[in-house]
Amino acid sequence: MKDLMRKRTVISLETEELLNKQVALEAMASAKYLAMASWCDAHGYENSAEYFYAQSDEERAHMLKIFHYINDMGGTAVSPAVDLINANFVSLKDIFEISLDSEITVTLAINIIVDKVKNEKDYSTEQFMQWFVQEQREEEMKARRAVELFDLLGEDKLALFMIDERIGKLNAAMAAADASPEA
Ligand code: FEO
Repeated sequence: MKDLMRKRTVISLETEELLNKQVALEAMASAKYLAMASWCDAHGYENSAEYFYAQSDEERAHMLKIFHYINDMGGTAVSPAVDLINANFVSLKDIFEISLDSEITVTLAINIIVDKVKNEKDYSTEQFMQWFVQEQREEEMKARRAVELFDLLGEDKLALFMIDERIGKLNAAMAAADASPEA
């Protein structure tokens, strides 16, 4: 029965494994962003909290997109366990720097999958992953812009207030982009 099922699988077992690892990474990213949102909420950074709640939702959507793809291709998507998430952040800057690191980690993992499926001539998965390549470009750019705000404005009370305001504008831009017909 297993052999019969496997014949219907378009993706290789190695690719299935890599995609399931990506599912776990996206789930972890979603949980990390939720912890960041909670810290921002507790410290009065309302716009930053909203930003990270939205990021958490996006990461869950990414996870589900890959999850469904694995199953649609005849593989078996694995519901990921999420380890304990660090919630002891030092500062708002610390949070945005961790978020940039996290996005870079995700981009590298996606590049590994793209390399793998290119070598295997798995054009279906290569095409599927292109969406994530573009998404990561945008996600990294957003995270970098946020980190740059701290270099630009500093970290005193007024600067942090202004940064949270700027993040509010970023939230509005993200909401407008999501509402656009091309999103
Ligand atoms: Fe889905 Fe930002 O990684």
